[in-house]
Amino acid sequence: MSRTRSARVPALAKINLDLRVLGKRPDGYHELRTVFQTISLADMIDISFTPAKTTEIALEDALGIPDNLVTRAARLALDAMRVSGRVALRLEKRIPMGAGLGGGSSDAAAVLLALPALSRRPLSVATLCELGQQLGSDVPFFLLGGAAVGIGRGTEIFPLPDAPTRYGLLAAPGIHVNTAQAYRDLSPRLTTELQQNKIFSFLSLTWDLGGLGTAANDFEAVVFEQHQHLPALKRRLLRAGASVAMMTGSGSAVFGIFPDRASAAGARRLLGDEKAVPFSLVSRVRYRRIWYRALAPHITPSIWPPRSR
Ligand code: C5P
Repeated sequence: MSRTRSARVPALAKINLDLRVLGKRPDGYHELRTVFQTISLADMIDISFTPAKTTEIALEDALGIPDNLVTRAARLALDAMRVSGRVALRLEKRIPMGAGLGGGSSDAAAVLLALPALSRRPLSVATLCELGQQLGSDVPFFLLGGAAVGIGRGTEIFPLPDAPTRYGLLAAPGIHVNTAQAYRDLSPRLTTELQQNKIFSFLSLTWDLGGLGTAANDFEAVVFEQHQHLPALKRRLLRAGASVAMMTGSGSAVFGIFPDRASAAGARRLLGDEKAVPFSLVSRVRYRRIWYRALAPHITPSIWPPRSR
């Protein structure tokens, strides 16, 4: 009998409902205050694990992404669990890349979440976060999902209460933004006087996420200058009825949040030639449910979901 265990797991995209960059840190990264939110757009990953004496990790990826984070995530997880075996991965990309939607990070987090269930070896939340931050600043958020505050490098994640389902439109115009370069462009503009204002403005947003009244993304200042199409897109989303429209992460995708599903659908027609994808915000309860469903045959309560031991 084969000892292979397999699952088809989702890797949801994120948007940043708010993103403030405070300043450069001694380790070269930038200090952030952000609100992450998972949305209904997702990559799909087929993953299987077969115990074996040696470890082999194979990835079938139609796009041939070099140095794919999922293989690194699989290696890190197996090492941390002290197990060896064959991991086969097949990646179905639907989340646009280089768009600020966290696709690669979410794929990596999905592998970290799935492998303990498939190999029946637990990994604690602390260990998963530690492995996640080695892979990228956005990875730890996807271990939790829903709405969450990210501080520090963006790797210190604190859950926010689930809000009612909301609907949006996402326009990803195919402009690939290099995140490291966007930080380098933004860095000289950051002043210590601005920091206090940003912190209090960020605080007030997290106290009233329903309103999103003070929502902002600091990267718009530099990325919009370089790509005039993006501020125009934001204006079009607002004119089409979005209560808030903003770039996500370091771009280039721009999203709009609408009062209800019908107005999001109506706005999509108004945008005409600009391809926009409808999405809903995915709460933490829904995120967990999606994961439970994907891993159902393999779940044993002592192993999954990850605990804080
Ligand atoms: O962590 P990640 O690999 O996603 O970061 C990509 C690049 O973005 C980093 O190499 C760094 O230049 C920049 N970055 C930063 N401050 C952060 C996160 C990322 O300067 N908080």
